[in-house]
Amino acid sequence: MDDYVAGRVAPLVIDRAEGAWLFDRDGRRYLDGNSSWWVASLGHRHPRLVRALLDQAGKLAHTALAGLTHEPAVRLAQELVEIAPAGLSRVLFSDDGSTAVETALKLAVQFWAQNGQPTRRRIVALEGAFHGDTAGATALGGVELFRRPFAPLLVEPLRLPSPADGEEHSLEELSRLLTTRGDEIAALIVEPMVQGAAGMRCHGASYLRGVRELTRAHDVLLIADEVFTGLGRTGTMWACQHAGITPDLLCTAKALGGGMLPFAATLVTDRIFRGFLGGKERAFWHGHSFTGNPLGAAVAREVLAVYRDEEILVRASRKAERLATLAADLAKIPGVRGARHLGMIAAFDLAGGGYLGGAGWQVYEEGLRRGAYLRPLGDTVYLTPPLNIAEGELDELCEIFAAAVATGC
Ligand SMILES: Cc1ncc(COP(=O)(O)O)c(C=O)c1O
Repeated sequence: MDDYVAGRVAPLVIDRAEGAWLFDRDGRRYLDGNSSWWVASLGHRHPRLVRALLDQAGKLAHTALAGLTHEPAVRLAQELVEIAPAGLSRVLFSDDGSTAVETALKLAVQFWAQNGQPTRRRIVALEGAFHGDTAGATALGGVELFRRPFAPLLVEPLRLPSPADGEEHSLEELSRLLTTRGDEIAALIVEPMVQGAAGMRCHGASYLRGVRELTRAHDVLLIADEVFTGLGRTGTMWACQHAGITPDLLCTAKALGGGMLPFAATLVTDRIFRGFLGGKERAFWHGHSFTGNPLGAAVAREVLAVYRDEEILVRASRKAERLATLAADLAKIPGVRGARHLGMIAAFDLAGGGYLGGAGWQVYEEGLRRGAYLRPLGDTVYLTPPLNIAEGELDELCEIFAAAVATGC
């Protein structure tokens, strides 16, 4: 804002978008290197999604999902359950990633409060985590910079070291925590396989399996925040599938709305669902005005249909190899550290300035000059393009990225 207010930079005004491309009002075009904050996994304005939106808008744009229901929401819930890790059988809709996480937190705490273990009130979260910007989700975030201003509002979770800093150590700490304080803990929340917004910090599937074993042994609920990783970003439909685990709750958003509308869901097991039956005072008193909005639900159904019909995951796996090659090539550039890739994610660290560093922003500026939108996470630069980007476009994006990174080193 300082730069805008002082007139040092002009806003880049995007006029339209199509597929992997953003077009500004001067007619310049940019490859969308981060799928517009990871929502446009099927690119921009996929014709089938536009059609689904228009068709639904012609019938029913909104109704409360309270005492009433409608076909898009019911069918979407069924379709999500069909593709979810086995055992997740109930769906609660909300608006975005943050509200999907808030929903999971409140479900976890209320579940124990009314099912015989009211001392289980604490949430365990990881260092380096990001779970959203609402107050509950902000409290879980593991990046101090994002939490500090809001401290008076936040309920502090118990913290675990990030697996990105040592998987064994993190598991040992978890084991110790569960052994000593397990009966205080309602749930553990993780971003499976990769901590995204805090800097694309990856961990292995065995870590996730370890987390599942320990939480199960101590009957602590496991929340998988798949807001970023879900819907194919890491190579499997859900990142939990790398480890073959089923969490007790799973949050999905971003790509679910097809890059068109905010839309989110929290999936839970039947055990949790049943923990809310048995009288009005046991109900989950939580619901957003736009919960299950028909437009969003219709688009989300079409998103899932496009994944099926266009074999998005199979085709993305070839493109993921291109990102792996890019990671190997860029790792050779002096100044590039920690090259990593997983599915349709490739990330690199520059300069070591962390989230407030400037090197990533040099890459960003150079990217714009060369025709790509490469918004960094501080000094972490990364690519998370649409999963259905054309192979030629991906090559072009990788070339621009490599050239831009070279200028940032
Ligand atoms: C893992 C994760 N959870 C939750 C969120 C919050 O999602 P939203 O911005 O849609 O509220 C994000 C956003 O980046 C995220 O990466």
